Amino acid sequence: MINNLSKKFGNKKVLKSQKTNLVQNVFNNVANKYDLMNDIMSFGMHRLWKNELIRLMNIQNNQKVLDIGCGTGDIGIKISKLNSSVSIFLGDLNLSMLEYGKNKKTNNKNLNWININAEKLPFKNNFFDKFIISFCLRNVTDLKKALKESYRVLKSGGEFYCMEFSKVENDFIERFYKNYKKNAIPLMGKLIAKNKNAYKYLSESIDEFPKQDVILKELNNIGYTETFYLNLLGGIVCIHKGWKI
Ligand SMILES: C[S@@+](CC[C@H](N)C(=O)[O-])C[C@H]1O[C@@H](n2cnc3c(N)ncnc32)[C@H](O)[C@@H]1O
Repeated sequence: MINNLSKKFGNKKVLKSQKTNLVQNVFNNVANKYDLMNDIMSFGMHRLWKNELIRLMNIQNNQKVLDIGCGTGDIGIKISKLNSSVSIFLGDLNLSMLEYGKNKKTNNKNLNWININAEKLPFKNNFFDKFIISFCLRNVTDLKKALKESYRVLKSGGEFYCMEFSKVENDFIERFYKNYKKNAIPLMGKLIAKNKNAYKYLSESIDEFPKQDVILKELNNIGYTETFYLNLLGGIVCIHKGWKI
């Protein structure tokens, strides 16, 4: 049973105090191949998913946006190219991932890269207009704590967006995807990133992540209103939205 002292790291039960380090170890090991692996594993589709997220966000001039678990900064960099008046805060716990992001040629002055934990954000209450957590919530040790922090730092009228791998709600896609996740992803990790275990973790962590309705309920419990989710590719990826009134 998972209780307050234990958490899942992939499909293994570990002490809560160990999980963050184990996850960070994964990202330390894959940071140099992270972007390449995303392109290969998703057949380039992660770029379309990120574009769809940005389209849904409908960001306005001069808004403040936090992308937590930004990794190498794809989403924030795209937003800054679309609107240079937006203040973008790119936060991640992993220095290697941030370093790879910062080294991308962007020329954008509205990007602020910061080494922070989603579970304890160093921002005052009611600060951001938009909050993004993309393919990160699955990796966080205390999901509820991270969601509460998102609510705290959003202004009234602010919007929460989570993009994450989710439960496939289409049988045809699920048959193909199950096999792809279990076998192909770790194999690609072994051949390309030279790290089978990191990509085995990716695959297992997707299976362990709560399904769409459970996340929706968590968002409602925290206080978000007008919550909904949008499945992409039959639920392989899902975007949850919540509104803070
Ligand atoms: C799969 S990557 C996603 C990167 C990027 N958001 C994207 O969509 O490509 C997950 C990122 O979340 C970060 N992360 C995991 N736990 C975190 C935490 N508690 N606080 C901040 N970042 C965290 C990892 O370091 C990693 O860079």
